[in-house]
Amino acid sequence: IANQFDYDVLNGQRVVITAGPTREAIDPVRFISNHSSGKMGYALAEAAADAGAEVTLISGPVNLSAPAHVKRIMVESAQDMLDAALHSVENCDVFIGAAAVADYRPESVSTNKLKKGKEASMDIRLVKNPDIIATIAALPNKPFTIGFAAETNDVLSYAREKRLRKQLDMIIANDVSIAGIGFNSDENQVTLITSTDEISLPQTSKRQLARQLIEQIAPHLPTTR
Ligand code: CTP
Ligand code: CA
Repeated sequence: IANQFDYDVLNGQRVVITAGPTREAIDPVRFISNHSSGKMGYALAEAAADAGAEVTLISGPVNLSAPAHVKRIMVESAQDMLDAALHSVENCDVFIGAAAVADYRPESVSTNKLKKGKEASMDIRLVKNPDIIATIAALPNKPFTIGFAAETNDVLSYAREKRLRKQLDMIIANDVSIAGIGFNSDENQVTLITSTDEISLPQTSKRQLARQLIEQIAPHLPTTR
């Protein structure tokens, strides 16, 4: 079967994508995480590879197999994801942060499994994780950097603020308060925000949306190699 997406809009471009959740260890058998499925990031990796890009997918723990012709690096924690991103981003043209990175991690990881105490409650102190995409966007030779903003309210204003604060070239805003789109679902409906434009795309499958996003991103890149 012929590739139905073979117009090579990203021919030769190097693309790094983060996807899925991160896991922040509490002890050897427990962690803090979230319900991210990784579907949007994996769909973007597949679409970018189909469009001719050389794709590295940095993935947290998900139940998805690596798309064809994509180099996948599996990671667990936000710190691991940052290390992999910094390592992969050299000479890359586009960085897409589709991962649902845990904002906080336990301050310390117990080497032994924690035992249930006599007290009725327990506290775990959390410390902030590094911001992966903001770190990439602050690099001197920064790639075209694209983030996601999954919000439940004031979606566009939060997304605009996030784009500016993290110095992103583009942010993809989606409303996760609407059942059936966004977080852990098969479809999505997003608005692309750059410094000059806001484009709303109709609700569709993450696979279809990924292809539309790749088409929207391509014209922003300096020149196709
Ligand atoms: N992101 C990241 N590293 C983090 C947190 C977020 O790279 N530690 C990226 C996400 O992959 C996404 C973008 O930043 O592309 C926005 O994530 P989001 O969680 O919406 O932003 P936060 O700054 O964490 O703000 P919030 O308080 O809304 O969670
Ligand atoms: Ca967050």
